[in-house]
Amino acid sequence: MAFHGRMLIIMPFSLVLFATITSAVGQAKQNCPDRCGNLTIPYPFGVNEDCYMGSDYFINCAPNGTAFLRNSNIRVTNISVDLGEIQIQQYLTYDCYTQEGEHRYNIPELWVTPPYTISGAKNKFMAVGCDTYAEFEGYRPNQNLPFIAGCMSQCLGLDSVDENSCSGIWCCQTSIPDGLKNRTVFLNF
Ligand SMILES: *[C@@H]1O[C@H](CO)[C@@H](O)[C@H](O)[C@H]1NC(C)=O
Ligand SMILES: *[C@@H]1O[C@H](CO)[C@@H](O)[C@H](O)[C@H]1NC(C)=O
Ligand SMILES: *[C@@H]1O[C@H](CO)[C@@H](O)[C@H](O)[C@H]1NC(C)=O
Ligand SMILES: *[C@@H]1O[C@H](CO)[C@@H](O)[C@H](O)[C@H]1NC(C)=O
Repeated sequence: MAFHGRMLIIMPFSLVLFATITSAVGQAKQNCPDRCGNLTIPYPFGVNEDCYMGSDYFINCAPNGTAFLRNSNIRVTNISVDLGEIQIQQYLTYDCYTQEGEHRYNIPELWVTPPYTISGAKNKFMAVGCDTYAEFEGYRPNQNLPFIAGCMSQCLGLDSVDENSCSGIWCCQTSIPDGLKNRTVFLNF
């Protein structure tokens, strides 16, 4: 892995969101599509207006079979009504330079709004980089002050990079409290 200059990145999230689903049936409504690409879509979720329980459960199915949650850019990869959770694609934000010195970055924000929150048990916040300080911020129900946490990753030289561990050298990670929403990631170098 070649790092160039000030490095980089990120923040994967193996995303799972919790939804409070009350009266769930577990199958698509009659005459409603029950798939979007590979994704099985049980009620209360649905792709057409008469098929979902409310706009929170709208699955926006792109023609190529990619499923998005509501009108967001959050990609849904699995829905489990029994567990009351949906799985979404890892969210990755980055801020780095190519070998040619070109600055590459994206917007480090993931809007998770009610009824969804981020599962603490099934996610971790991770950052990869040298001299990288990354933090995330989110709100818990009924609290006005944000919860902020983060981690720091350093490299003492590329020789010290151990790609198999994530414990502060090259990569760092921290857990996430249950119930966070409105998560924002800040990257500091
Ligand atoms: C599928 O379509 C969505 C929405 O237009 C797009 O964001 C996504 O990149 C596409 N995926 C592939 C694999 O083409
Ligand atoms: C469906 O699953 C296959 C195999 O896991 C994967 O290669 C493909 O990208 C998936 N298609 C969509 C639309 O997610
Ligand atoms: C979807 O989630 C269920 C429940 O957690 C799990 O059993 C299943 O293997 C998952 N499917 C995929 C394709 O990840
Ligand atoms: C969460 O984000 C939404 C959408 O931007 C905003 O309307 C809401 O006020 C935010 N909530 C908190 C607690 O920041």
